[in-house]
Amino acid sequence: MADARPFHWEYRPEPAAPEAFRIEGGAPLRGTVAVSGAKNAALKLLAAAVLTGERCRFENVPEIEDVRVMVQVLTDLGVVVDHPAPGVYEVAAGDVDWLFIPLEAAAKMRASFILLGPLLTRFGRVIISNPGGDRIGRRPVNLHVDAMRALGAEIDYRNGYYYAQAPGRLRGGEITFPQVTVMGTENAMLAACLAEGRTVIHPAAQEPEIDDLMAFLVKMGAEVARTAPDTIEVHGQRRLRGANHRVVPDRIETGTFLVAAAVTGGKLTLENAACEHVGALLDLFARVGLPVRCEGTRMEVDATGLRPGDLRGLDIETAPYPGLATDLQPPVCVLLTQATGDSHVHEAIFEDRIEWLGELRKLGATVDIADAHNAVIRGPARLHGAEASIGDLRAGASLILAALAAEGTSLIHGAHHVHRGYENIDRKFQQLGATITRSADPA
Ligand code: UD1
Repeated sequence: MADARPFHWEYRPEPAAPEAFRIEGGAPLRGTVAVSGAKNAALKLLAAAVLTGERCRFENVPEIEDVRVMVQVLTDLGVVVDHPAPGVYEVAAGDVDWLFIPLEAAAKMRASFILLGPLLTRFGRVIISNPGGDRIGRRPVNLHVDAMRALGAEIDYRNGYYYAQAPGRLRGGEITFPQVTVMGTENAMLAACLAEGRTVIHPAAQEPEIDDLMAFLVKMGAEVARTAPDTIEVHGQRRLRGANHRVVPDRIETGTFLVAAAVTGGKLTLENAACEHVGALLDLFARVGLPVRCEGTRMEVDATGLRPGDLRGLDIETAPYPGLATDLQPPVCVLLTQATGDSHVHEAIFEDRIEWLGELRKLGATVDIADAHNAVIRGPARLHGAEASIGDLRAGASLILAALAAEGTSLIHGAHHVHRGYENIDRKFQQLGATITRSADPA
């Protein structure tokens, strides 16, 4: 195995080519749309494939920027990744040339940190960039690092990089998280699959994408199971084999389309959705007064009969699964702009996910931002076209929703953020009757 590449001390991430969406709002969306595979499952599945030297094959992988970044990171390590058809990826990690995840990868995509567990447990060492840099507070990875240490890893932190090694094999152990963490749970689970002995992870996050990853690991020969809703148990194996897997539907994209129909007064059918994964959202829709029918993989939302004022405002709070996903907070906020009364929004998971409401205000929403976790939305508001800027993925998709609901033309800067996680979002909306185009940002 070669030594780590030289560090990029002066590295500054290249800004992606600036693009903007131009949206003509006011048209009710109608038609049928197929939900893509889940970003937050696909990225972890691709990473899990390095647990074996044998070929793994994935279907229903979303064609999004984050998947392209993950494929590039794997390829840079020396892993062979083929892309024989749209949505199909094959990964063969017979050997890797480098055990080094550079700052470039971490800066582009925080989820590159999911490679810590699989690389460390299979190859015994890895040097991986801290995706948060030296900033403390926002999006730390301390829980991932502590979990690896609980499995016997030795990890030093120097100059923005974690130097991790496992003398011999990792050893199974008790991993007790002080708070629920999705990727922390996944990293621990992936590492434990090749560790010696038994690992118990508690509290384990309960997101459906984790169970999808678990299903794939079982196909690889791993002994891993959810023994209680918040407990995952792993009996480590010496080797795992290649396997095939189809990625679960994206429940965040599902919620985005349901809200799109609601706020434009349209009627949509969603195919390839997973009704059982969006329970909290469906409860919320029932309380707001939005009719949604759900059967197996098909969902229907019909807002054509709604009159202004029919939707009722309510208080929402984000929470780990099975609660309302923090990634669904932005689309739900757009829905609440059309509901009557005050809706209190409590964003309990992240401290940087309320700020985007300032941009929503530019399109005519009435929003009071109380602090980093709380806001009040007063509805119903008559949204109008405006110029606004996307700061992150989920906020971006939600500004599109608001612009689709608004009267007039909107120019939404920062379109590239949305392509990180939504496959062909502009084309999908166009097929439903929206007027949305993407072009180089004139700003
Ligand atoms: C994942 C999802 C993201 C989603 C989030 C919460 C992926 C690629 N991303 O992110 O879309 O919004 O779950 O559902 O799957 N924390 C720490 N230390 C850590 C790790 C997390 O303090 O080492 C904190 C975070 O700052 C946050 C909370 O724990 O406040 C939960 O974050 P976590 O569940 O880990 O989110 P991610 O797995 O990064």
